[in-house]
Amino acid sequence: MRIIRSVSEMQSYALQQRMDGLVIGFVPTMGFLHEGHLSLMRIAREKADVLVVSIFVNPTQFGPNEDFDRYPRDIERDRGLCESAGVDALFYPEVAGMYPPDASVFVDEDMVSQGLCGAGRPAHFRGVLTVVAKLFNMVTPDIAVFGQKDAQQLAVIRRMVRDLNFQVEIISGPIVREADGLAMSSRNTFLSSDEREQALWLHRSLENAQSLFAAGEDDSRKIEDAMRRLLAQNAPGVDLEYIAVVDAATMQPVGRVVCGSLIALAARVGSTRLIDNIILG
Ligand code: PAF
Repeated sequence: MRIIRSVSEMQSYALQQRMDGLVIGFVPTMGFLHEGHLSLMRIAREKADVLVVSIFVNPTQFGPNEDFDRYPRDIERDRGLCESAGVDALFYPEVAGMYPPDASVFVDEDMVSQGLCGAGRPAHFRGVLTVVAKLFNMVTPDIAVFGQKDAQQLAVIRRMVRDLNFQVEIISGPIVREADGLAMSSRNTFLSSDEREQALWLHRSLENAQSLFAAGEDDSRKIEDAMRRLLAQNAPGVDLEYIAVVDAATMQPVGRVVCGSLIALAARVGSTRLIDNIILG
């Protein structure tokens, strides 16, 4: 596996692969890899000739009071996992190599990114889109795989690719859960065992919504209320930021739920912010 630390080396590596006629698959990550990331790598591995993974904890997508400094990092372990996953090139740039100190061009999205996580984290998607656009320019992937767990991120990236004509196919990988149902996340490492117990109710509330929908309930307000009640009764340590029933492509609220509608939520459990979602039907 080749380790690439500079942008220019990444660009010449990618150019060489393209000149050799190889299909480049790309999985961008912030590291501290878990089974969720590995599942995305397997999808990309299957569809591409060359698999590039990036590890970059991107400062521009964290707000001033967020967890950029304490975001978990373990490059040695990640390196081993990438090696075993059959990664061809691991791109692991430094912040100074990615952003000139006076960088002044950013990618903004005005609709899909505005609600849900975007409401509570105002500059988050601007940072995500900017770094993903930059990474796409460096890696020039034919396909890029993102997790469905970050459903709004996925929708915002699809919008950017469509509106700015990036020549990359965006593929989503299903949410990977722990045996107890908790959606895998690098941030789960921060949860104490009590907090983890409470956090399980997030997934249970989503499953409850799925059952209500299966039983014929299609009023989004009633589904949301039932979820809130379940959480309030069973998980007082869960501090809900939002629950929203939305269209999965536009992230706009829907009144009547249909097959394919998305229920997304974000909550704080202790000091850890967690997100999860489910597609109905
Ligand atoms: O989902 C993530 O890990 C990050 O938001 C991404 C897409 C790698 C951009 O920094």
